Amino acid sequence: MTVGVLCAVHGSAESIIVQAVERTGGRLSVTRRCADLTELLAAAEAGLGRLAVVSGDLDLLDREAVELLHRAGVRVVGVGDVTRPWLGERLSALGADLVVMEPQDEDAGGSVVREALAILDAVGTPAVQEPNDVPVGRAAAGLVVAVWGPTGAPGRTTVAVNVAAELAAAGRRTLLVDADTYGGCVAQVVGMLDEAPGLAAAARAAGQGGLDLVALARLTPQISPDLRVLSGISRADRWPELPSSSLDAVWTVARSLCEWTVIDCGFNLEQDELLSYDTRAPRRNGATLSALEAADVVLVVGSGDPVGIQRLVRGLGELTDLGLGGTRMVLVNRVRASAAGSRPGEAVQQALARYAGVTDAHLVPDDRPSLDAALLEARTLREVAPGSPARRAIAGIAARIDALLSQSLDVARVRAEVV
Ligand SMILES: Nc1ncnc2c1ncn2[C@@H]1O[C@H](COP(=O)(O)OP(=O)(O)OP(=O)(O)O)[C@@H](O)[C@H]1O
Ligand SMILES: [Mg+2]
Repeated sequence: MTVGVLCAVHGSAESIIVQAVERTGGRLSVTRRCADLTELLAAAEAGLGRLAVVSGDLDLLDREAVELLHRAGVRVVGVGDVTRPWLGERLSALGADLVVMEPQDEDAGGSVVREALAILDAVGTPAVQEPNDVPVGRAAAGLVVAVWGPTGAPGRTTVAVNVAAELAAAGRRTLLVDADTYGGCVAQVVGMLDEAPGLAAAARAAGQGGLDLVALARLTPQISPDLRVLSGISRADRWPELPSSSLDAVWTVARSLCEWTVIDCGFNLEQDELLSYDTRAPRRNGATLSALEAADVVLVVGSGDPVGIQRLVRGLGELTDLGLGGTRMVLVNRVRASAAGSRPGEAVQQALARYAGVTDAHLVPDDRPSLDAALLEARTLREVAPGSPARRAIAGIAARIDALLSQSLDVARVRAEVV
């Protein structure tokens, strides 16, 4: 069967590639010569080709565009340029399946096409690739914990901030990220005074293929010895600046920068593209979904009152339906007798066991004085109320989470020894 090729290449290389394609004896055929990215994406979505050959400096080409091509089932061959070696690196970082140098003659054109055919022949290779811009020099060994919970302010931010602070205090290099596209406030909660460029800037750099360890380190101020922060968007209407395709790459680099990345997520799991027919429209909940997909462990936070528990039960169901949160820990926050009866801990555990099959929920007591003190001083519980009930409970949960890292390091060590 002839495979359609979409060609969006500048200059003399275009005709060299087109001619080489036409010499493949019908295996490949150029179905569209595209003047710009818009035309290329439209042709891909119309199903006109399974292979796109694209100049590295094509206007507006970014990670999202490459992901859209992948989602349309199109492999991407990026054409670099010997005089601009960084173009090739950029193409790899954007997620191109193959990067070739601009062919100058018929022979070179032929070898570009042979390499392209080889990637098409790689049976079983998924079109959607993992982000491949892991910086060299350090393995991407860190783990990601996404802190999620249903609507109703159950305490996601409180838990994310304080779990991150505990992990850092235990000597783990930790990155705290605000990925809540509805009401992110991590920077304010931890007392970061300057307006940091934050996650939007990291996403922009990743989208352009320019996010590496150094760039991410620059964007993440250190607020205590082992704790870095990637602040969120300052206004909720800036959510389109956080496309999931770019965030996927941010998490990959974060794993290399830190042992733990703790992400404060928005509450909403709706997949907006199901609501609109425009699959290219940015998704407001893309940031949350991207974090949950990347997470090694999802910390699900619910509120310890009847409404909060009901929302938590529903939220756990939603996560399961979406295939998210394979490894999850359930945390019920603000557990108190005034909202859950005389033995609130038991009541909460029983309700969760009965309605969600959860028998190992972690409980954090309602502790208004300590939380208010932390908010007032814009510091963490371990700083302002180290002996408080809420801090002790959260520190215990952080230790459980950290044990996962030790386990994963053990597994990695055993694997390395076996190899
Ligand atoms: N264990 C606790 N005891 C008392 N108050 C708490 C506790 N945990 C959180 N709070 C308070 O509850 C409020 C909401 O917490 P938080 O901002 O962490 O929730 P959230 O789930 O991130 O909400 P949002 O939907 O606004 O992002 C805050 O005022 C916080 O101080
Ligand atoms: Mg919050």
